[in-house]
Amino acid sequence: MPQRPYIVGNWKMHGTRAMLSEARAIDRAAQRHMKVEVAIAPPYTLIHPVHREAEQIAVGAQDCHHEEGGAHTGDISATMVADAGAKFVILGHSERRQNHGESDALIKQKTNAALAAGLRIILCCGESEKTREAGKAVNFVKKQLKASLPDFGDDTDLISEKLTVAYEPIWAIGTGKTATVDDIAEMHAEIRTLLVSLYGEEQGGEVRILYGGSVKPENASEILGTPEVGGALVGGASLTADSFMGIALAAGDAEEG
Ligand code: PGA
Repeated sequence: MPQRPYIVGNWKMHGTRAMLSEARAIDRAAQRHMKVEVAIAPPYTLIHPVHREAEQIAVGAQDCHHEEGGAHTGDISATMVADAGAKFVILGHSERRQNHGESDALIKQKTNAALAAGLRIILCCGESEKTREAGKAVNFVKKQLKASLPDFGDDTDLISEKLTVAYEPIWAIGTGKTATVDDIAEMHAEIRTLLVSLYGEEQGGEVRILYGGSVKPENASEILGTPEVGGALVGGASLTADSFMGIALAAGDAEEG
């Protein structure tokens, strides 16, 4: 059965407790739009407060360490974010890859740690502007994704529940630029083919592939109506309930249309 559209807010390094009212407003609005699955990934410090208050939306983390515990000052493990109430974790975001030098191999370890902690994964991939201009975007993204995916082993039953992929062209993040519908459709189709080849039609065919990069209420309908786009990973426009739920509404409409 096809899954509901998935609209995920990535709050990045935004949000003190004053933002809890926004999370509450998102949660209340999500209760009125059950055709769409809505979730937010606030900073670590707000995971538990949001979890305590939310009735409808899932809360997630924006990263986790690849080990379960140990002498890693300042780091947080998958088990810890799960304990705080996180149901999912975003991994491999380009800001982590760039600002913290995260490699595909490290991200793979993190995805495995997340699975072991019972977290669902949103695995990000995406090319730079230079790679796109060189005509190498598709190959780059497929290679990046393949190298960062977790090892599901024999436990293949629920892959489409556990894994979501987010395609986020780096040059579209926070810039107001979005990829063309044709480019999004092409990349999502390639990612789908890869997922089906790895996990079979039943699971690989159902993994949701989100688009991310300057998604806002004004462009959401067009993007979410594109073939193989199963939702959106939203940064800037997820920081207020108004704009974020504008995107969720567009997702509901795209689903009906
Ligand atoms: P943006 O961020 O919506 O602000 O472009 C998206 C993301 O980084 O996930």
